[in-house]
Amino acid sequence: MKDAAGGVPLLDLEPATSDFLEQAIAGLSSSPRTLPSKFFYDERGSDLFQRISELPEYYVTRTETEILRQHGPEIAESIGDNAELVGFGTGAGMKTRMLLNHLRNLIAYVPVDISKQRLTESAEALSREMPSLEILPVCADYLQPIELPTPSRKPDHVAVYFPGSTIGNLKPEVAQHFLKRVCRLCGKSGGLIIGVDLQKPTEILEAAYNDSAGVTAEFNLNMLARANRELDADFDLSTWRHRAIFNQEASRIEMHVISETEQTVHLDGKEFHFVPGERIITEVSYKHTVEGFTTLASAAGFQLARVWTDPQKFFAVFHFTTL
Ligand code: AVJ
Repeated sequence: MKDAAGGVPLLDLEPATSDFLEQAIAGLSSSPRTLPSKFFYDERGSDLFQRISELPEYYVTRTETEILRQHGPEIAESIGDNAELVGFGTGAGMKTRMLLNHLRNLIAYVPVDISKQRLTESAEALSREMPSLEILPVCADYLQPIELPTPSRKPDHVAVYFPGSTIGNLKPEVAQHFLKRVCRLCGKSGGLIIGVDLQKPTEILEAAYNDSAGVTAEFNLNMLARANRELDADFDLSTWRHRAIFNQEASRIEMHVISETEQTVHLDGKEFHFVPGERIITEVSYKHTVEGFTTLASAAGFQLARVWTDPQKFFAVFHFTTL
């Protein structure tokens, strides 16, 4: 289905509410209990994430942006001329601009995002800034197989841009499976530019996900609030608290919501019992090494072309290519 979005045609494959319901029930019924992190990003969640990205403790966005500011021209040169750029989860598009501005004879830009509001707004703003650029926004869950629109001019090659370390929200096996699909999507002589958060001391990681202003807590609890709003669940928000811990063994941050009381939550005619201290995992965020991530991407069919990091080696931007 196509919707007009202020002159930019939107391909709307937004997941249905029934998707959220189905996955929420499955997650709450599993052990440990989980809720899928992609459902953080409703309008309120997207706003809260924007605020997280500006927090002093949350080094992730700032560091990645700095790498792009420093190396944008080089990264664009590494991608090459006459490309079609596909953006996965590019949100407000701040980092993407730092690539777009340097890409020569860009054929088209295809931003794919689950947050329709963000996607539409940023596509419209970009189209005002770059009126001659063909922009083909797609609202979809890019972790599922999707069919992308075809630009009116034929590119020499396809480059996928996947910023934000969102790949870190996938377990390594799932990430590898996803990257295999991206590899096929890229086709011959394609490329992947991917932002990946790196391992660092636990104190720094835990501070980034337990910020002192409590924005991450609000972001996390918004998942329950959204279930109440959209799925008619009855989470009593005053009895749940946020906590993020670094799981050293798995090398991942785990975002939890913890029940402070014994309680029963109702969802779709089902009852979910919680004992005091019981947790729901709402997100995992893996912290990789440059070597480890290169191995993972190689197993999915990619070749490492180049990698850029910040001086502290907090974050890496990789350019992988396909044969
Ligand atoms: C932008 C999805 C990568 O894992 O760091 C921020 C989301 N969660 N604070 C991350 C997030 C809690 C974030 N990603």
